[in-house]
Amino acid sequence: MPESTDHLTHVEAIKPPAGFLERHPSTPFLADFEEYKKLYRQSIDDPETFFGNMAREHLSWSKPFDQARYPPGTGFQNGDAAAWFLGGELNASYNCVDRHAIANPDKPAIVYEADEPGEGRVISYGELLKEVCQIAQVLTALGVKKGDTVAVYLPMIPEALVTLLAIARIGAVHSVVFAGFSSGSLRDRINDANSKVVITTDESKRGGKAIETKKIVDEALKSCPQVHNVLVFKRTGNQHIPWTDSRDLWWHEEKQRYPPYVAPTPVQAEDTLFLLYTSGSTGKPKGIQHTTAGYLLGALLTTKYVFDVHPQDVLFTAGDVGWITGHSYVVYGPLLNGATTVVFEGTPAYPNYSRYWDVVDQHKVTQFYVAPTALRLLKRAGSSHVEKHDLSSLRALGSVGEPIAPEVWEWYNEHVGRGKAHICDTYWQTETGSHIITPLAGVTSTKPGSASFPFFGIDPVILDPTTGEELTSTVAEGVLAVRSPWPSMARSVWGDYNRFLDTYLRPYPGFYFTGDGAARDKDGFFWILGRVDDVVNVSGHRLSTAEIESALIEHPLVAESAVVGFPDELTGSAVAAFVSLKHKNLEDVAETKKELVITVRKEIGPFAAPKLILLVNDLPKTRSGKIMRRILRKILAHEEDQLGDISTLSDPTVVKHLIQVVHENF
Ligand code: PRX
Repeated sequence: MPESTDHLTHVEAIKPPAGFLERHPSTPFLADFEEYKKLYRQSIDDPETFFGNMAREHLSWSKPFDQARYPPGTGFQNGDAAAWFLGGELNASYNCVDRHAIANPDKPAIVYEADEPGEGRVISYGELLKEVCQIAQVLTALGVKKGDTVAVYLPMIPEALVTLLAIARIGAVHSVVFAGFSSGSLRDRINDANSKVVITTDESKRGGKAIETKKIVDEALKSCPQVHNVLVFKRTGNQHIPWTDSRDLWWHEEKQRYPPYVAPTPVQAEDTLFLLYTSGSTGKPKGIQHTTAGYLLGALLTTKYVFDVHPQDVLFTAGDVGWITGHSYVVYGPLLNGATTVVFEGTPAYPNYSRYWDVVDQHKVTQFYVAPTALRLLKRAGSSHVEKHDLSSLRALGSVGEPIAPEVWEWYNEHVGRGKAHICDTYWQTETGSHIITPLAGVTSTKPGSASFPFFGIDPVILDPTTGEELTSTVAEGVLAVRSPWPSMARSVWGDYNRFLDTYLRPYPGFYFTGDGAARDKDGFFWILGRVDDVVNVSGHRLSTAEIESALIEHPLVAESAVVGFPDELTGSAVAAFVSLKHKNLEDVAETKKELVITVRKEIGPFAAPKLILLVNDLPKTRSGKIMRRILRKILAHEEDQLGDISTLSDPTVVKHLIQVVHENF
């Protein structure tokens, strides 16, 4: 666990910004914190009634559900997750698009900000419905049926949203692979999900540079024999992309064959809406499986209550559709609420550090949501980039993916929100589907660095990591778990329910285990203290150290490696790889290190590249051969005096050598 959290007790809560309600578009959803507390209590005591009412009120059903929660009651009965809204039928794309298009076809659904300023466009709900229907028919013609998975490898363009909604419209399952992943990672995910159709672009644009997206897909498909079609959206028009006539089809050519409307296919509430692969303690990524109704309700309610999103609002989530943040708060949450979502293709630094604020100013963005890593970059670039913009439209400012340091929180509050926008540090995971611990804009008092209180239906507990006992005193520190299922929690790992149970529900029986450490202060605020497993959070990207180790071993010179995270000012954590080589007398050490970094970039993707490679003679192992990463972390932090018990090492002299290598290199 991280060092003592005593200092948290002295942080004072800050009230919601004065004037929040004056700039509010209509009647607030909640009158005050007392009303939140009342509703929260109901959601915990009787989740069936609470979420049953919410689901009837907020979602459109083609067949009403019979039972809101199965089995009824609370808790993880029999050690399984609950099923929600059984008997009910609905369609995700109908809920996101049709009902708003019917009511108001000209209303903007998507504001697309292209990588190059000025090249974007606005897409109305009516236009979105047409696009979704046409691509849905293209997919049907390609043989995609209800329950089939479709792999998506797309940049942040409106067509990414169209794709997801078209897949959902025919009852199929989308499996988005972040377009920063390498061909090898893409191949593994396509094969694990057994996807037979892939949707991609010719190229992508990011920060002024073109990325050879189709080439990466083609490389992956060399080992995916089941894939029979690739649908390609023309993004840049480069003539020189690889093409296989019998397999590849142009999006624009196929789309025009079909009429503008096709009826949505109703699915069961518990039918799978999507898979999203994420990293855990082992090398093999897990296809986290989310179901339709529960997930939609979670994305809808959190967007509404956490960010105070009203239909006339413009939400700008600067996250990628390849991660859960993009799924829940670029695509589903804003559209379910009938609001406008900004789809931003670029980077915060292109063409200069004003880019986010240009977008906020130009489109009168009301909610802005980003990871602290981007804020650290922008804070470092200087406040002058923010100051010249009119940001008065902003009411809520979200933070996600990693802890936000108090000085970054203050900068966000002062320079972006100008004291008038409510900062919401939202804690959640791919597996939780939507926010689980978070302030509610305009309602919850906040403390910089704390994610504050649980969302409706979330009953968080702090457990003693060793005994698994619940720590019931208000001030507590341990591992974070949740006592009872909630609608948007994942239901399984694709094809491996046992692994789902082993990872989340069996480590602490009766609870969902988050994998994070947490503390609760005297006022009941929750503070997230970071992962307690072998997961490293680099710039808000979740990486498994075991996956990076498996990548390194692909290099012919590598005998063994151990990967750990270490603090980094800009990216939060960075990756350090301790590597022992098969041949000790290397001629060019720098060249070898470069090759090792390239190996990881190639095997996983550029975002996983180690910042530090340390060539060592041996690794610290127990007699049974287990690598003691704790020792490596301590040595990297230059805390050699706090190594703890090293007598269990098979060769304790290795420690001296490791200390020397770290001192020479870092
Ligand atoms: O360690 C926590 C951290 O990100 C992990 C989840 O990563 P992922 O599934 O990729 O989802 C990221 C976007 C939700 C968590 O286990 N994390 C997420 N939000 C926060 C956070 N750590 C601290 N504060 C947060 N607000």
